[in-house]
Order: sequence, then structure tokens, then C-alpha cells
Amino acid sequence: MDSKDVEAEIHPLKNEDGKLQENLGNRLKKEDNLKSAPLQSRLSRCRTVAFFLSLFICLLVVFVISFIIPCPDRPVSQGMWRINYNTAVTYDFLATEDINRDRIQDVLFLYKTTDGSNNFNQSCADEGFSSPCSFMAAASGANGSILWERPVAQDGALVLCGVPQPRDSGASSACILVGRPGSLIAVDLFTGSTLWNHSTSFRRNASILSPLLQVPDLDADGTPDLLVLTQEDKEVNSYIYSGKTGHQIGHRGSLGVDGTSGFLLYVTRAGAHYILLPCASSLCGRSVKGIYEKVTGRDSPLRKDPSWEDVLSTAAQRLLSHSSGAIRYLVNVPEKGGEDLLLVSSESCVLLDGQELAPKWTFSAPQVLRKPILGHYKPDTLAVVIENGTSIDRQILLLDLSTGVVLWDQALPALPGYPQSASLPTADHRSAFFFWGLHELAGANQTEPRDTQHSLYMFHPTLPGVLLELANVSANIIAFQVALFEPSRHAACILLTGPASPDAPGLVSLAKHKVQDLVLSSRVVHLTEGGSDSDQAIRDRLSHLRYQSEA
Ligand SMILES: *[C@@H]1O[C@H](CO)[C@@H](O)[C@H](O)[C@H]1NC(C)=O
Ligand SMILES: *[C@@H]1O[C@H](CO)[C@@H](O)[C@H](O)[C@H]1NC(C)=O
Ligand SMILES: *[C@@H]1O[C@H](CO)[C@@H](O)[C@H](O)[C@H]1NC(C)=O
Ligand SMILES: *[C@@H]1O[C@H](CO)[C@@H](O)[C@H](O)[C@H]1NC(C)=O
Ligand SMILES: *[C@@H]1O[C@H](CO)[C@@H](O)[C@H](O)[C@H]1NC(C)=O
Ligand SMILES: *[C@@H]1O[C@H](CO)[C@@H](O)[C@H](O)[C@H]1NC(C)=O
Ligand SMILES: *[C@@H]1O[C@H](CO)[C@@H](O)[C@H](O)[C@H]1NC(C)=O
Repeated sequence: MDSKDVEAEIHPLKNEDGKLQENLGNRLKKEDNLKSAPLQSRLSRCRTVAFFLSLFICLLVVFVISFIIPCPDRPVSQGMWRINYNTAVTYDFLATEDINRDRIQDVLFLYKTTDGSNNFNQSCADEGFSSPCSFMAAASGANGSILWERPVAQDGALVLCGVPQPRDSGASSACILVGRPGSLIAVDLFTGSTLWNHSTSFRRNASILSPLLQVPDLDADGTPDLLVLTQEDKEVNSYIYSGKTGHQIGHRGSLGVDGTSGFLLYVTRAGAHYILLPCASSLCGRSVKGIYEKVTGRDSPLRKDPSWEDVLSTAAQRLLSHSSGAIRYLVNVPEKGGEDLLLVSSESCVLLDGQELAPKWTFSAPQVLRKPILGHYKPDTLAVVIENGTSIDRQILLLDLSTGVVLWDQALPALPGYPQSASLPTADHRSAFFFWGLHELAGANQTEPRDTQHSLYMFHPTLPGVLLELANVSANIIAFQVALFEPSRHAACILLTGPASPDAPGLVSLAKHKVQDLVLSSRVVHLTEGGSDSDQAIRDRLSHLRYQSEA
């Protein structure tokens, strides 16, 4: 004890000794430097002035930013809004774009009615259509007020929005609509005014195949062009239109095959553009270059893929002629360095390698009657949602896209005519999934569902044992979409409901519901026993999800 105390007493003394010596040294130095003192004090005064001046400027900037410059007015976005049209019918089309430039996505939709709506004074006759005719409308995502609305066709068929327009046209982006019996119109996305309109040269009884495709610029006018495929007399014909003027490029060309809707544009590893379409039990293909050269007789700078051309020429335009069962859906799958192709047939789902079209995996599921959607179950790893079966037997399967392994599956009976599922990326690099089903999941062994309402469920992979029942809808749903209205949190469901038959007009309704609000008022469905979290804790957790736009 003594020795410690002694040490403790000695050390401070030592330190003080050191300091004394230092001070002494400093004083000596200062005396040495005495001659340069005036210069130094002027310098230090300058430094002081500079210091206070910069401090003052900093404070001023902070003051100006925080008090004087007002915060930019964030438009207030209503969590829910609804627009109704009486005696109308509507179409399976929804698109979101920021039309009024308030940085909140707005909603584009299509409906058919006799006399224009009350919002704008436009009638079918104004645009030369007989009544009823199809109107296109844009609703503000913030509060549902109609931004523009106008007659666009006698009867709507296909719509493609966000088609870039040349600088000199006065519009930066257009919505293009193919109407029945045969019209093509481009309207300015932001104002709804007509950019151009033409009638098409489709044959009388042509059926227009979906979708309306945007293809690379073929006529070298700096604007992407448009491709329409029609089924006429058991043969698929192609029509190419200039995206800038709407004029037809060349004449009608036959693809020499019989096909159905659901074709897609596919880019091979060599950068060649191909149209792939389901034709009976085969996969048919044609290069965009070949189609263009056939209808115009001119050369195109686009490419062909030599290896694909070999296959196509030996097999009568068929890329895969031995597919198992009729092809129902084709889905582009993004892949490192290109695309793969997911093919759903009446027997199985197959992921095809993007170049060789060799199967990477095959998943046997004979009852897939909905187009699969993609999302992320594990972070940054693509998964595909397969719905096997319909109504009472329906099963939702989430497969890992790289391997075809089942990640999650759940029986989710649904009413006939239930809407398409949806997914939306979340900030944790996964996705939230939205499925429609019956309210009573447990009543799956009843043959006749008692309920007549569709229920919307949300699923997030971080809680695989839980579904949230977000809403019940008893109206007939024509179109459904989940979109990110504002970055981060403001994701919302858009629901377009209306009469089931186009011949029986009724109430058409477009509604937006903020997902976060739906989550907070949702019913928690536990799929597995033994979850420890309370329902409220689960709702709170999922209501804090942040959403991202598609990559
Ligand atoms: C709408 O049309 C009616 C009759 O054509 C006209 O009296 C009225 O002023 C118009 N309203 C607007 C806002 O243009
Ligand atoms: C299409 O153009 C013609 C004249 O070129 C015009 O009379 C007609 O109103 C236009 N139709 C639409 C829907 O804009
Ligand atoms: C919706 O918001 C716009 C501004 O963004 C405003 O002009 C309009 O009056 C609002 N409409 C309704 C119905 O609140
Ligand atoms: C389409 O119309 C043509 C004549 O215009 C007719 O020969 C052909 O049989 C029709 N095809 C169908 C599928 O109705
Ligand atoms: C898909 O559904 C069919 C008939 O409902 C059933 O036989 C088959 O086992 C299901 N497949 C999977 C993978 O669930
Ligand atoms: C399913 O049906 C069986 C008999 O058909 C019955 O015993 C069982 O309780 C039913 N389950 C449910 C959840 O209704
Ligand atoms: C849906 O309706 C059922 C009754 O039919 C009700 O129990 C459930 O809470 C409703 N769900 C929501 C999210 O409102």
C-alpha cells in the first residue's frame, strides 16, 4: 500500500516537472521570436477575421436554407380515392406515368361510354365516332382528379404508353392505341392531344393479337417503331407503323404461321431482335429485320442471329417444334449478359437458355392458366410465381428462377375470374407479393365457395408463415396493378372494376388504395402454427416496408 501511494505521489511531481521544463523552453523560444511579433499578430488577426467571416457565412447559409427559403410544396397525396362512371364498360388496361409532373405517378385507363363524362365537354361525335366510343383518361395519382380525358377510338383494343417521341413533335412521350375496327392514334401523354391518327389496313375479320409492340427504329427517323400482329384467315400477319408519324411502313407481311396472343420481343446474345410467338404446340420466331425487309423490300441495319436463322430455316419458322403441349405463356427473364425465356405449356414450365434454347430446368405443373410473374424471394435472386390450378384447387408456388426449386407454396383457392397477381420490389432487395383468393382459406374443401368476394392478400418473404388479407372486393375486377406512386413508401394498389360483359354497361370504378393503409387495417392470416408475434406487431412490421421501383 505504501509503495503504491508513493508512486502515485511521485508521478504527478514528475509530470509537473516536465511541464515546468516545457514552459520554460517555450518562454525561451518566444523571447527568441520577439522580433517577428508584429507580423505574427497581424497574421493571427487576419486568421481570426477569416475564421469569423467563414463562420458567419456558414451560419447565414444555414439560416437562409432553414428559415427563409420555403420548403418546396410537397403535394398532399390522398391514401385512397375513387372515380366512378355510370353506364360504362372498361378494358383490361392500366398504366402509371407522372403526367402533371408533381412527382406522384398518375393513372391512365380506358373506358367506353355513350356521352362523355361530366369532367370534360367532349363527345364521341367530336372526334368522328358514333356513340358509345372509347375514352382514354388520366387521373391524378394524388387525389384522383381527372387531368385529361378524350375519345380515342370506336372501341379500344391495345394500348402502349410511354413511347418516346421526337423533339420537334412538341411531346416527349405518347400513348398509342390500336382501336377496333381499325384505327391507330397517338396522343400526347401529358395533355391528351392528338399527335397523329390513321386508319389501319387490317382485313375485315382480323383479330388483333396482343400486345402492341415497340420495336427498334426501322425507318431511321430517330423514333422507335410499332409492330402489330393480327390473325387473319388462320395466318399471322404483321404491320409495321412509324412511331413518329403513324404511317404504315411497307405493306402487310405474312409470318407464314398460325399463332396466338402473348408474343414477345426477344434480343439474342448477338443483339438480334426476334419476335417469338406461341403457335400451336411450337414456339415460332421471326427476326424483326426479316419482317421489315419482307414488307419493304429494303435492307435494315438490324441484325439476325446466324444460329437462330439456321434453326428457323430448317424447321419452318419454328424454334422449338417438340415442346410438350400447347404453349400458353412466354416470359422474358433478365439474366447476366442477356435474357432467358420462361415458357409455360399445357404440361410444364420450362426455363430455356437464352441462346441455345436448351432447358435449364423443367417444372411439371399442368394447370398453369395465369401468366407467371417475377419477383425476389431471397435478396437479389429472381423467383417466379406459378399458379397451378384454378378456383378451389389453386396452388401458389414460388420457384427459384435459377434452379426451379420450390421456395414457398400455399394453397389459395380463388373465385373464377380472379385478377392477376402482382409483385413490387422492397428496399431489402426482396419483393412484396400480392395474390387474390377467397376470404376463407380454410374452407378449401368445399366444392362451392359461399363467398362472392375476392380477397387481396399480401405476402412478404421475411414472414413466410403469414398472409395479410388487405381487402375484400365484391365488384367484378377488370384490371389490377400495384405501383410505386412515390419513391420509398408510397406504394398503392390500383383497382379497375366494371361490368363483366362489354354489352351490358354499368358502374365503372377506378380506385387507388395506399398499401400501407391497407396493411394497417388488414386481417392477419397465420399459415403455420406457433408464430410468436402478435397480429398488431406483424401489421406494424409490414407497414414499415419501403418499396423500390423496378430496377
Ligand atoms: C359544354 O357544352 C355545353 C353544350 O355544348 C356548353 O353549353 C358548355 O358551355 C360547355 N362547357 C364547357 C366547360 O365547355
Ligand atoms: C383523326 O384525324 C381526322 C383528320 O385527320 C380528324 O377529323 C379526326 O377527328 C381525328 N380523330 C381523332 C380521334 O383525333
Ligand atoms: C387535386 O389536386 C390538384 C392539384 O394537384 C388540384 O388542382 C385539384 O383541385 C385537386 N382535386 C381535388 C378533387 O381535390
Ligand atoms: C374472313 O373474311 C374473308 C373474306 O373477307 C373470308 O373469306 C374468310 O373466311 C373470313 N375468315 C374468317 C375466319 O371469318
Ligand atoms: C398442379 O395441379 C394439378 C391439378 O390440380 C395437380 O395434379 C398437380 O399435382 C399440381 N402440381 C403441383 C406441382 O402442385
Ligand atoms: C373437409 O371435408 C371433410 C369431409 O369431406 C370434413 O371432415 C372436414 O371437416 C372438412 N374440412 C374443413 C376445413 O372444412
Ligand atoms: C373481409 O370480409 C370478411 C367477412 O366476409 C371479414 O371477416 C374480413 O375482416 C374482411 N377483411 C378485410 C381486410 O376487411
